[in-house]
Amino acid sequence: MSLPRVIADGPLAEQVLELMAGKVELLPWEVALQGTAEPVAGLFTFGHPLVDGALLDRLPGLKVISNYGVGVDHIRLPAAAERGIPVGNTPGILDGATADMGFCLLLAAARRLAEGDRYARSAAFTRYDPGYMHGREVHGAILGIIGMGRIGTQVARRALGFDMRVIYHNRKRDLEAETSLGVQYSPFADILQTADYIILCCPLTAETTGLINAAALAKMKPTAILVNIARGPVVDTAALTAALANGTIYAAALDVTDPEPLPRDHPLLTSDRLTIAPHLGSATEQTRQKMAEISVENLLLGIAGQPLRHRVG
Ligand code: DGY
Repeated sequence: MSLPRVIADGPLAEQVLELMAGKVELLPWEVALQGTAEPVAGLFTFGHPLVDGALLDRLPGLKVISNYGVGVDHIRLPAAAERGIPVGNTPGILDGATADMGFCLLLAAARRLAEGDRYARSAAFTRYDPGYMHGREVHGAILGIIGMGRIGTQVARRALGFDMRVIYHNRKRDLEAETSLGVQYSPFADILQTADYIILCCPLTAETTGLINAAALAKMKPTAILVNIARGPVVDTAALTAALANGTIYAAALDVTDPEPLPRDHPLLTSDRLTIAPHLGSATEQTRQKMAEISVENLLLGIAGQPLRHRVG
């Protein structure tokens, strides 16, 4: 009997391939770009390829779109809904890893770790000098969290362990977090003016696109540090480049950028006040394994016409 045909953007991770082995026939993403007359049962998105209505119309009989990850901003959900195609994702299992990465970036930017690493490896490092590379203190500082969902809440828990005061902004107040963690709701404009660290944990939506623009950066403290573990377009890249060059803010740490990756000659990449990672938020062996299991389970359930374990649209 022939296996159900699944299109995926590769190369797929070994764990994903193992879980799919013998269960589906894998086809390359080019088939989705070119279209096919043969039925395709599933679409598996691994590295955020764009999935829009035009692409879906090229794939007759599609039963499910399964995304490896939580964020589905690369998938046009209304287009999938209009065609009755369920979309699965992997929430709930990557919050801890992503919050760890957020804190890792925050600490690295505050204590100038990437710059220090470059210096410590270079020929220029010939003697210890108590006068160099003074960073900013983390303990006792005010952390502003934009987006108090599952990941934002995990970031808040870590911040409390560092004796930080946590303020947050979210579409809806989170009274449970306010009571259990002692975090304080603040209007967005107040967070910009008050926080020593601002960490972006919100989804990418029409409202959050360009949220951190030149006007927002200008309201931040000159000693403030911006951390983005959300999506690149939440920050206006040109405005951030200028803000770091002009000393409008102290530093930035980015796990995501717009575009991603940045062109190799982008001026932002020359800033010593930038700490940057290549979208590693959930990239631990344990979390990636769970993401593989849930996304392949969603795929197989959708192909079988059953409810997905996690459905977004
Ligand atoms: C997510 O889960 O959205 C991560 O960015 C990986 O795709």
